[in-house]
Amino acid sequence: MSNSVIEQLSQRRSVRAFTGDPVRVDDLTAILRATQQAPSSINGQQTSLVVIRDPERIAQVAEIAGGQPQVAGADVVVVFVIDFNRTAEAAKIAGTEQVVERSAEGIVTGAVDAGIALATFQAAANALGYGTTPIGGIRRNPTALIELLGLPARTYPVVAATLGVPDSEKLAQVKPRVSLESYALSERYDEAKVADGVAAYDEVLRAWWDSQGLTQMGTYSHDTAKTYSTVYFPTIAATLRSQGFEFADEA
Ligand SMILES: Cc1cc2nc3c(=O)[nH]c(=O)nc-3n(C[C@H](O)[C@H](O)[C@H](O)COP(=O)(O)O)c2cc1C
Repeated sequence: MSNSVIEQLSQRRSVRAFTGDPVRVDDLTAILRATQQAPSSINGQQTSLVVIRDPERIAQVAEIAGGQPQVAGADVVVVFVIDFNRTAEAAKIAGTEQVVERSAEGIVTGAVDAGIALATFQAAANALGYGTTPIGGIRRNPTALIELLGLPARTYPVVAATLGVPDSEKLAQVKPRVSLESYALSERYDEAKVADGVAAYDEVLRAWWDSQGLTQMGTYSHDTAKTYSTVYFPTIAATLRSQGFEFADEA
């Protein structure tokens, strides 16, 4: 099966080294327009993007994200914001009280829409020859980012993405995934297939790291378990609350 879109999506990888050449303004506009056409739950359009090009502000985001050089080296950083402030404007016009941000459903909806936007942004950027990496590291210090971006109540910076011209000499290879049959499960969830997929992937990823010369990297199970045995970004609940989000639907 050969198709240029499938080929592009199958070749996607995080790009963390950029040449420093600028992203063309008309390309950036085209990428943002394409991103905006992503689907949105009930057409609420509860996502806003904050597009950062000022190098000093990019450096600040890099710092917030834990000092990530791949952020500092990007020409553009886009922050994907859950935006129930927009829908609150609609509620104002309609004369109703908005409560969606006070439900788990609202937080899930906002995060799903932002994730779809992120993937669309990456696909559009790749189509024009640019490279990007999602940056969840911004959630290391949401308070500082909320302050830097001037985010009002009912908004939350859920993820960011870098954008730049890839340095072809430092381009990573496509990273393998767990086997398709342990990922795309037929008709019902299959715990045994998922478990087998993890065990097999430990060897696949280990071999891939070695082939990249990154012999210090661990296995999938070791590295994932290390992160997921800690609450690695401990201020998410508190900062969501301070932005007006809550789980009022909690039983
Ligand atoms: C929501 C999300 C957050 C991420 N955050 C970071 C990050 O802060 N820094 C980084 O270098 N990569 C980050 N990544 C990239 C992942 O590490 C990467 O997608 C994964 O290792 C698979 O590699 P690939 O994208 O090259 O296929 C993030 C990816 C996602 C989807």
